[in-house]
Amino acid sequence: MEIKLFCPATIANLSCGFDVLGLCLDNAGDEMIVRKSDQKGVRITKIVGADLPLETEKNVSGVAALAMLATLDELDFGFEIEIYKHIKAGSGIGSSAASSAGAVFGINELLGRPYSRKDLVQFAMQGEKLASGNAHADNVAPALLGGFTLVRSYAPLDIIRIDSPEELFATVVHPQIELKTSDARSVLKQNVSLKSAITQWGNVGGLVAGLYTKDYELIGRSLHDEIVEPLRSVLIPGFDQIKKTAYENGALGSGISGSGPSIFALSKGKETADQIAKAMSDVYEKMNLPYEIHVSKIN
Ligand code: HSE
Repeated sequence: MEIKLFCPATIANLSCGFDVLGLCLDNAGDEMIVRKSDQKGVRITKIVGADLPLETEKNVSGVAALAMLATLDELDFGFEIEIYKHIKAGSGIGSSAASSAGAVFGINELLGRPYSRKDLVQFAMQGEKLASGNAHADNVAPALLGGFTLVRSYAPLDIIRIDSPEELFATVVHPQIELKTSDARSVLKQNVSLKSAITQWGNVGGLVAGLYTKDYELIGRSLHDEIVEPLRSVLIPGFDQIKKTAYENGALGSGISGSGPSIFALSKGKETADQIAKAMSDVYEKMNLPYEIHVSKIN
């Protein structure tokens, strides 16, 4: 018995919500096959498209799967995982999250769903911990639940799923450099001023309110980040110009996707999202910098 999966790419943080907000893209992601096998335990049998370890304990899918199986009665069978990577490591659109979430989702399905999708987040987070040293949930939660997700609390884990307004589209450009999440986290300060915190939580509230009320302008006004973006944007080639271009072409808001180097823009309607993609491409063409670009609905 086997299951074939699409493991979606995700955008974490969404400017104001470092480590707590994320969204799921509907047309960018990896593929995975998870199958039952006679051999106990979890084996990664194939990885295509990336140079990643096959050893279960060193692979984010393997670690997430083992974390899940450790909570269940011992099984007299095991699982094999084949991974077809399309999301590049260190791209900022949730490469490790897609693999971690896919593994636990697939195994859960093959076991007859002992866990809810929300329950699976805690296991997928262990894959993130292996990848970046930090068990953040803002990529794995939207990968498993779809739409937008808010991590209201980490301890205890409390994830809220929020539907995306129908006409909201994301444009994501990946300048082809690798930026490890652990490196992008190492530039952050451990303390923030009360003034910045007030601005930031005002915007998180505004963004969530905008999503529920389908108020696109409010969503746009809330997409700001004065805590993380100023420290990380210097690591991303052409960041200021790409962001400026996004706004000039009708974006509601724009910022760093996850820990970067990808840059996202949200817009109302596909036409605007396509126009932003074209304008962003022009910027990187002029800079002679290779890039990859996606326009996606949030799903
Ligand atoms: N919240 C995480 C970070 C997301 O910004 O470090 C990583 O994709």
